[in-house]
Amino acid sequence: NQYVVIMAGGVGSRFWPFSRTNRPKQFLDILGSGYSLLQMTYERFKSVCPPENVYIVTNEAYAGQVKEQLPAIGEEQLLTEPHRRNTAPCIAYACFKIASQNPDAQIIVTPSDHAIFKEAEFLATVDTALKAVKDSDKLVTIGITPSRPDTGYGYIQYLDKDSDNPVKRVKTFTEKPHRELAMKFLESGDFVWNAGIFIWNAKGITKAFADYLPEMAETFSEISGAYYTLDERRIVDEAYATCRNISIDYGIMEKSDNVFVVLGDFGWSDLGSWNSLHALREKDDTHNNVLDANALVYDSKDCMIVSHNNDRLIIVEGLESYLVADYEDVVLICNKNNEKKFREFVNDVKEKK
Ligand code: GDD
Ligand code: MG
Repeated sequence: NQYVVIMAGGVGSRFWPFSRTNRPKQFLDILGSGYSLLQMTYERFKSVCPPENVYIVTNEAYAGQVKEQLPAIGEEQLLTEPHRRNTAPCIAYACFKIASQNPDAQIIVTPSDHAIFKEAEFLATVDTALKAVKDSDKLVTIGITPSRPDTGYGYIQYLDKDSDNPVKRVKTFTEKPHRELAMKFLESGDFVWNAGIFIWNAKGITKAFADYLPEMAETFSEISGAYYTLDERRIVDEAYATCRNISIDYGIMEKSDNVFVVLGDFGWSDLGSWNSLHALREKDDTHNNVLDANALVYDSKDCMIVSHNNDRLIIVEGLESYLVADYEDVVLICNKNNEKKFREFVNDVKEKK
């Protein structure tokens, strides 16, 4: 009765220029492992459920890339979205569909663009969460010990700190707090980050949609009985044309009083930026990181040099804390600590081209 839903429709703009709107981060081999993050996510869950119980939800524009990277995924397991509407509709689509086929399903919903380094620990955490939703309609998420006041995460305050029960009741869930609040949360020591991986059963999540996003529940419940038919296509197209653009975190997790958290410690990174990748990768004592690139580096430190173009030799001298990213028709050279400016670059580039 176990199912996995992989959300693979985001844009990943902070890994620009490697990630582009037409080729977001989940489809890239960001870790240099020979596999894309999506492929690694798929592999990671292989032991959790039979292959036919894995669903991938992605934008229509990325369907081809998913098929190419995961040839084992059948047509009916690939759910495509005609518009980008964030994670709530993506989850509603997959979960209402699964619920209509198997009302007793336990469902794991996972991002497609994270790195997890300790697989066994990760699977044990997921298993604890799965047990918790076997006969209960709890909404369970996984909590990670925070290390900085990052404003890109959900912050979870939980109860039962000292109890032996690994499944802790959530008191508050705050999605992407502003800086001061994030600092307070971090200092209090009471909060963990939401890893963005959710575990619930079919009844629990469909009920939560009915309670907190009733219009979405109504629209997507129409999918029941219309599997893989032209009817499903029509219902989905209509649903996405009108449905709200909202994430599951704002739409449900912040509002529900039925949220629980299992703490995890499995070498997690959401690879939010070049800088976070730099921090993760092994470096020599100059702290330089050369990823795939054909590069000569002199008198430089704390630099990250990335390229998939082996025909071009990159020579760097006298740089500190710089990112050099060479990709197709773009070379980006910028201070690694100025990541906030990335959105600006991307916008300016769009205007130029
Ligand atoms: N199918 C589909 N459609 N997938 C989507 C869409 C969409 O419209 N939007 C995003 N996704 C996918 C992304 O590709 C990613 O794998 C996942 O859903 C999460 O979306 P993000 O856009 O990366 O969310 P976030 O990083 O800002 O925040 C979430 O993750 C954090 C941890 O990394 C939240 O759950 C936070 O609370 C959490 O801390
Ligand atoms: Mg993310």
